Amino acid sequence: MTIDLFTPMTLGRLELPNRIVMAPLTRNRAGPDNVPTALNVDYYRQRASAGLIITEATQVSADGVGYPATPGIHSPQQVAGWRQVTDAVHAEGGRIFCQLWYCGRISHPDLLGGKSPVAPSAVKPDGEAMTMQGPKPFVTPRPLATQEIEQIIADYARAARLAQQAGFDGVEIHAANGYLIDQFLRDGTNQRTDQWGGSVDNRARFLLRVIDAVSKVWRPDQVGVRLSPENRFNSIADSNPAGLFQYVVEQLNEAGLAYLHVLEGDMLSGERKLDYRKLHSGFAGPWMVNNGYTRDTAQAALVTGEADLVAFGRLYIANPDLVARFASEAPLNEPDPETFYGGGAQGYTDYPALDTAETV
Ligand code: PHB
Repeated sequence: MTIDLFTPMTLGRLELPNRIVMAPLTRNRAGPDNVPTALNVDYYRQRASAGLIITEATQVSADGVGYPATPGIHSPQQVAGWRQVTDAVHAEGGRIFCQLWYCGRISHPDLLGGKSPVAPSAVKPDGEAMTMQGPKPFVTPRPLATQEIEQIIADYARAARLAQQAGFDGVEIHAANGYLIDQFLRDGTNQRTDQWGGSVDNRARFLLRVIDAVSKVWRPDQVGVRLSPENRFNSIADSNPAGLFQYVVEQLNEAGLAYLHVLEGDMLSGERKLDYRKLHSGFAGPWMVNNGYTRDTAQAALVTGEADLVAFGRLYIANPDLVARFASEAPLNEPDPETFYGGGAQGYTDYPALDTAETV
């Protein structure tokens, strides 16, 4: 049987009607105290025909914040807000995972009640943090003490439990894009000499411990992990990304995860050099790819077996009914980058769906 975008798939306990995934997308439209709002409910409801929705990155603790107006999953109000989202998606027949996030050094004291951002080591990112008062230069982060690392692992476990209370179908651990877990993985940001740094297995320890903690709350096949081996976003760097991520992928192979989600290439330039077939060959479970796929390139990746699922970001911003548009090969709305981050309904919930009368 040829597998394509419209072939159903069993993912852990879930039956997905198609392989079209809504990628996690930071949109900076959460309400006060990082609580999801009715507007966020509308946005996710509109996109419920996706095979799977992965939420925007969601902080596991108030100390994990890195941007204004991003949602959290550490307070009862946030759980109640997310419950509205999951109920709306489920009422439309959809499925939704919560992406668990801790920003680490990609933050600013202004976002942390004056506290210093934390990281494996005191390595300052290049560039600027996004604060309520606009961009401000990054500061040098404070290296985490051993007991603080254990506390953050416990924060992930608590967030995993709260995601169950909020009605999610699973969680995705955000280990990509230069945030805290990625900061531990890479030797550019992890210069520790204890059990959390140095060798590749020491640098992978934090990710593996987080997976272990979250997999005690959810079944492992309800837990996904996102990696971005070649992404340079957030001034992340490693001396040997191919070796590091081959090791990580092979370690994760034993975890019985729902899927591994790989952002291919560099997020901003699109440059792509790594051998993803080799990386994929180290993992036996479902393989989700992302970054710039179109309907046709996604079909090709599925047909050849290079991927089992494809996540779409920008296309999902602009096309709430992406599944129907792909199915009928209808034209796509163009996303407007001006309204990606922050604001209200404009550029968020006002992208039109196809007029169904035209397509039947
Ligand atoms: C962003 O805010 O630009 C952002 C957030 C999370 C990501 C990637 C980008 O994983």
